[in-house]
Amino acid sequence: GVMRELTGIDKKEDRLAKKYSINEVIIVSGNSDTSPWVKAELGKECASCIKRNLSGENIIAVTGGSTLAAVADMLTPDSRKTLFVPARGGLGEDVHNQANTIAANMAAKMNSSYRVLYVPEQVSKEAYLSFMKEPAIKEVISLIKTANIVVHGIGDANVMAGRRKSSPEIMMKIKDGNAVGEAFGYYFNEKPEIVHKVHTVGIQKEDLDHADSVIAVAGGSSKAKAIRAYLKMAPSATTLITDESVANELLKG
Ligand code: G3H
Repeated sequence: GVMRELTGIDKKEDRLAKKYSINEVIIVSGNSDTSPWVKAELGKECASCIKRNLSGENIIAVTGGSTLAAVADMLTPDSRKTLFVPARGGLGEDVHNQANTIAANMAAKMNSSYRVLYVPEQVSKEAYLSFMKEPAIKEVISLIKTANIVVHGIGDANVMAGRRKSSPEIMMKIKDGNAVGEAFGYYFNEKPEIVHKVHTVGIQKEDLDHADSVIAVAGGSSKAKAIRAYLKMAPSATTLITDESVANELLKG
């Protein structure tokens, strides 16, 4: 629109997409760390991006987090067939931040369906292995692996490890590896190198290369380092939806 041209936001979007060799960048104004409504705007842009990328039949894998919850709030009913699934099993989040919760809420908003994946987090290796042999579990995992759209958040490494009540050993691993960011259970540093990965089932980083669209949604100046590091390894099918505070940081250097 006219505003986007006047403020030069459209040019920043193009420059960033080129700089990081990704499909598309969408910038909303403001800083979601200091203005809560900016997160709602990220949610709105992400909801329309999902709609633009829908095919006749869809499997959409989603991660957890408050930004994804804002996306769920903005979705509206759609006649196209859509199944929501959590991208990965348990990452240690509280129930309101979990991918299962987000998938269920998104399906409710879009009048579509969802499947859940409850992975036990504190069981013996034997119990875990026999759980993985359950046909119903195997079925959900194979649905996740064939998702045509993946929607995920990006977090600050320390914030996420703290929020997930990670053990002192894992906290140390993240600190020693200089991790700055986190996405779908992978913690990475600025190089970027993966310094820790939450051991669970579902989408692994390599699987992102097979999705038609990968939508990363994250904003707030405190996440700028995390987002910059993530973009260095993001698949080329990525659309980044972020705010101006992050975009301005990413354009520097
Ligand atoms: O993996 C990243 C987190 O899901 C981001 O969570 O949207 O609450 O900051 P957030």
